[in-house]
Amino acid sequence: MTLQFSLATAAPETADSACVLVGVYEQGVLTSAAARIDGAIGGAIKRQVESGDISGKAGSTTVLYAPAGIAAKRVLVVGLGTQKGFDAARYQKVAIEAARALGKLPVAEAVSYLAEVDVPGRDAAWRVRTAALATDHAAYRYTATFKPREKSVQPELAGVAFAAGTEAQAGLDQATAIAEGVRFARELANLPPNICNPAHIAAQAQAFADAHDQVSCRVLDHVEMEKLGFGSLLAVGRGSANKPKLIALEYKGGAEGVAPYAFVGKGITFDTGGISLKPGPGMEEMKYDMGGAAGVLGAFVAAVKMGVKLNLVCVVPAAENMPDGDSYRPGDVLTSLSGLTIEVLNTDAEGRLILCDALTWTAQTFKPQALVDAATLTGACVIALGKHASGLFSKHDDLAAELLAAGEHSLDRAWRMPLWDDYQAQLDSGFADVANIGGKSAGAITAACFLSRFAEGQRWAHLDIAGTAWDEGRKGLATGRPVALLAQWLLDRDS
Ligand code: BES
Ligand code: MN
Ligand code: ZN
Repeated sequence: MTLQFSLATAAPETADSACVLVGVYEQGVLTSAAARIDGAIGGAIKRQVESGDISGKAGSTTVLYAPAGIAAKRVLVVGLGTQKGFDAARYQKVAIEAARALGKLPVAEAVSYLAEVDVPGRDAAWRVRTAALATDHAAYRYTATFKPREKSVQPELAGVAFAAGTEAQAGLDQATAIAEGVRFARELANLPPNICNPAHIAAQAQAFADAHDQVSCRVLDHVEMEKLGFGSLLAVGRGSANKPKLIALEYKGGAEGVAPYAFVGKGITFDTGGISLKPGPGMEEMKYDMGGAAGVLGAFVAAVKMGVKLNLVCVVPAAENMPDGDSYRPGDVLTSLSGLTIEVLNTDAEGRLILCDALTWTAQTFKPQALVDAATLTGACVIALGKHASGLFSKHDDLAAELLAAGEHSLDRAWRMPLWDDYQAQLDSGFADVANIGGKSAGAITAACFLSRFAEGQRWAHLDIAGTAWDEGRKGLATGRPVALLAQWLLDRDS
């Protein structure tokens, strides 16, 4: 369940809440809400600024408990950093830290005055939306596979009101819908691979369709795919007892007959590497190899919840890449759904092998006006861009610009990489139309080049989210990226 968000109109000193949240810049500059609270409580904030207890450093937090003079029980003072250079990215960072601090307090609700601070180039709806999404992100807890715990006696955060004018209402509504999509994606990706297999993803998609009038779901099993000629996708799944599925969700929010927008997401529910087995350490993180599937499904959920007036399809090729007596092997030549043959040189380059058939099928079946895939496709992309930007690849400058802009606006950013034909020769094979790997150099680009062979004639873009889909480490969690980017891109198309 997402948090409950609302707008607040009360002045900070009269807000009757368990906690009010106000911002303070460095060098003792109080925001107007902080100044009003400070005035009402006899200068306690300023005194702590002077003593150095409140630094104003970006993301620092201080709690004042039950100060006399205001209606609220607590004040959470959040550092905003220097006023000069305050920008959208800093605003988001501050909102995340504020939400973390709020989550540690024994409060069920709070009133935030953060959205009143000025952010260059961003309006009130954006400020409310960004703060609300940050709060929901921080409030998310993964509990699915723990022994059920006694309900704690401490109240847990259930809702936040943001002080803002009614012009911010749209931002609040978007935040609720996008937060639901982000939670859908995170929960699905965080589940262990013995639960989240291809059939589980299909069941989740089906359940969502059953609960929403304008949504329908179709699932192709391996027998149907065999008949249709999904030779590449099926090869990847052949070594696993969990058989592959092709999942297609359709949403009819736009006029009949208008070509849909299409998402395709890599749904490898576990990637051992197959016969080209991966090394042991860290292999458990390959449960997140369905992060692209989770991301496009989450964006689909957000779009439906926002009620965008667009037609939309979301296609997930789902499979498990395992070593087995029946596995596909290096040297195999596969015949893809498109008819192009593929020489397998490494069974660990499996993402592109399920995506190519899914791209062909999506283009043929839906004739979309734009086709965007998301995939945890290459370690090389992590080397190139790290965890801050997803890799964006497209031959269509207009589509690339739309996606970059959506990423910038939502702060779920992407960075464009080249997709020049110069790289295509790295995929030459002596035994098939194309090889599935392109050698040592430019691994993220040659992976995208491989996909481009199956997106001929489509207005297509590819997002490599290998670095952005989850936070690594023992306690790392799925991030929900690129739900916000894709949801924003659809919002921008719907106006
Ligand atoms: N799922 C991996 C890519 C990956 C690796 C994502 C690490 C996130 C973190 C993908 O299937 C893969 O194994 N790619 C290979 C390709 C190589 C064999 C050409 C890789 O990146 O090493
Ligand atoms: Mn792999
Ligand atoms: Zn993979």
